[in-house]
Amino acid sequence: MKNVAVIGSQWGDEGKGKIVDWLSSEADVVIRFQGGHNAGHTLVIDGITYKLRLLPSGIVRKNKISIIGNGVVIDPWALLDEIEEIKSKGVNITVENLIISESANLILPFHKEMDEIREDAAGKAKIGTTRRGIGPAYEDKVGRRSIRVMDLISEKNLNQRLETVLLHHNAIRKGLGKNVFKKDKLKEDLLKIAPEILKFSKPVWKKIYEFKKQNKKILFEGAQGILLDVDHGTYPFVTSSNTVASAAATGSGCGPNSINYVLGITKAYTTRVGEGPFPTELKNNIGEMLGTRGKEFGTVTSRKRRCGWFDGVLVRQTIKISGIDGIALTKLDVLDELDEIKICVAYEIDGKQLDYLPAAVEDQLKVKPIYKSFKGWKSQTKGIREFDDLPENAKTYIKELEKFIEAKISSISTSPERNDTILIVDPFKI
Ligand code: GDP
Ligand code: IMO
Ligand code: MG
Repeated sequence: MKNVAVIGSQWGDEGKGKIVDWLSSEADVVIRFQGGHNAGHTLVIDGITYKLRLLPSGIVRKNKISIIGNGVVIDPWALLDEIEEIKSKGVNITVENLIISESANLILPFHKEMDEIREDAAGKAKIGTTRRGIGPAYEDKVGRRSIRVMDLISEKNLNQRLETVLLHHNAIRKGLGKNVFKKDKLKEDLLKIAPEILKFSKPVWKKIYEFKKQNKKILFEGAQGILLDVDHGTYPFVTSSNTVASAAATGSGCGPNSINYVLGITKAYTTRVGEGPFPTELKNNIGEMLGTRGKEFGTVTSRKRRCGWFDGVLVRQTIKISGIDGIALTKLDVLDELDEIKICVAYEIDGKQLDYLPAAVEDQLKVKPIYKSFKGWKSQTKGIREFDDLPENAKTYIKELEKFIEAKISSISTSPERNDTILIVDPFKI
């Protein structure tokens, strides 16, 4: 039996949604285990686009179980809106195919407000968050004052939990000169939608154990990317959860031995949304071209994504940090028209060469990329589904990249469409 974890190896938006959807033909269960509706995972199936934020990307397929694990922070209103939106595209979403962990923590309106208040107050030092309340919600989880899905069951309990969390938030709000957040209206609003959320809620750890006993194949779907991991990313310009593969176990309720293969999704170039270091960023016409051809606008916030060359040093680093077994290389087609393509193979800092990204943000901002150049292929790879059909220069680029990052490339994506994908190694069959 093989279970696969799919994670982003860069700063998010690598094409995780497309690859999870493609691979889920073989899986029985797809589980989201961290992040929240800061994620935006795009699937394109026969020309129809689905943008998923909280729902696992397996939801669009029939006869698959989708699970939102305990590690996810859930804005209940955002989730209900998303369910309606996806249902309106003809997708069936019922208690039979969607399970939500009863231990997942909720994002409430005061979390979103706190995210906005802090970002606005930070001026130039802002993180550039998605302003969805992700950070404040995770802070409350670790601070042991969060409201969880199960807290929606009892009015008395909910009242008490809200009092605890608002004591904390209102002290900060008062200090920042903001109005006090009223408990009663929020409690009423929550109780109104409680049945709609609770009907999906189950002990997920127990379900996973049962699925494993039944030899079902599980696909763990990561959000964001390793460079946004709160421990291993470009801190403080990160999200507030662990995005590495090992988070799949804690964020769903199983052991690390339940993950048999880690697939890192990797864009053939680099993008980043929001602030923070980005050594290979291109603030020129090539960067613009990558953004235009790659349609690099945020799925969640519509912000323009920053674009740059492939950073081999960073991807080699994230492969090691997260135990990535193989890579799905995406968006190769975006490079089709370039005369020359570059890969960052080392950094230079204060006259010295470095083979990794230093941990301090001051140093991360200072490193200068050292590049290796490749000849472009100047022909269309869009839609190619067999490795042998790729132009020779594209094969060379892929093989060199593979050698440099020290990981196997197990699939290559050549367009947003589900089946425009080259399979080299099937992670479920290793
Ligand atoms: P995720 O957050 O990792 O799931 O990625 P997003 O969905 O936010 O962003 C990836 C974007 O690239 C989406 O618009 C996808 O439809 C698109 N995409 C995925 N793979 C490919 C590919 O191979 N080629 C092209 N041109 N677009 C792709
Ligand atoms: P997917 O799953 C790209 C970025 C934000 C910001 C930082 C912190 O679609 O790859 P947050 O709202 O999480 O506190 O913001 O993280 N960010 C993402 N960037 N893709 C994502 O998700 C992201 N989720 C958060 O832009 O820089
Ligand atoms: Mg995205």
